Amino acid sequence: VSSVAAAHLNLTTLLVDQQGAAIDQLGSEAAVLLTPAHQFPVGVPLSARRRAEVVEWARDAGAIVIEDDYDGEFRYDRHPLGALQALAPDRIVYAGTASKTLAPGLRLGWLVVPSALSDAVVSAKTLADRNSSAIDQLTLAEFIRSGAYDRHVRRSRLSYRRRRDRLLAALERRAPHVRVSGIAAGLHALVELPATWSEEDVVARASARGLAVAGLGSYAHGPHQQHRAALVVGYAKPPEHAFTGALARLLAVLAEGEG
Ligand SMILES: Cc1ncc(COP(=O)(O)O)c(C=O)c1O
Repeated sequence: VSSVAAAHLNLTTLLVDQQGAAIDQLGSEAAVLLTPAHQFPVGVPLSARRRAEVVEWARDAGAIVIEDDYDGEFRYDRHPLGALQALAPDRIVYAGTASKTLAPGLRLGWLVVPSALSDAVVSAKTLADRNSSAIDQLTLAEFIRSGAYDRHVRRSRLSYRRRRDRLLAALERRAPHVRVSGIAAGLHALVELPATWSEEDVVARASARGLAVAGLGSYAHGPHQQHRAALVVGYAKPPEHAFTGALARLLAVLAEGEG
C-alpha cells in the first residue's frame, strides 16, 4: 500500500472472503495486486473460480495482474498450487522473493514479466537502484544451481511445519476459544478471537510481554475495514531456542481472556 501511495497511484481495495479477493469488484483499474497462493494476511488461497475470473477480467480490461508469491515455498498441505501467471503470461507479472526463504535483509527477489513490459521494468529497476548487488545475485545463483537452496527450503519447510503444528496443538489445548485459520501455507496463522474481545487490548497485552504480533485491523485499508477481531501470528521469526518461550507467552495472553 505504501509503494502504491508513493507512486501517486489511485488505490482501491477489494473485500476478502473465504475464496480470497473479491474479483467481481474490479472495474476499470489498470492493475491488481494479489497474493493468490496465500492471501496476506488472511491466509486463504484464491479459489479456482476467482483465478479464472481475474484472468478474464485482465484480458477484457487490458489490465495487469501482479501475483505476489511471497511465501509459496512453504506449502504444508498436499495440494501444490500452480502459479496464476501460467494462466496468462501476457497479462500477469509473477513476483517471488528470498525474503521468507533466506532473509528479508538480502533484498533479492525475481519477476517474470510479460514481454511487452520487460523493457519498462528493466528501466524502472535501473532508475530505482542501479540494480541489485551483482555479487549477491551470483551467490544466490550458485546456491540455487548447486541444489543447496532447494535443500535449505525443504529443511526449513519441515521446521516451520513443526512450529505451526506446535502452535495449533497448544492453542487447541490452552485457548480453545480462539479459531485458527490460514495455516495450509506460509509462516503466519490467523488467530481469530472471540467476538467480545478487543483486538487492540490483546495486541497491547502481547506487546507488554515482548511479543510483536499484529492485529488484523492493522492491515485493513479502504472501505472494507470491518473485520473479525484476530491476531496475525508469525511463527518463523523467533530463533529456535526462543520459540518455546514465545509460544508460552502467547498462550498466557490468550488464556487470560478478555483482560
Ligand atoms: C504480502 C507480502 N509481499 C511481499 C513480501 C516480501 O517483500 P520483499 O521481497 O520486498 O521483502 C512480504 C514480506 O516478506 C509480504 O508479506
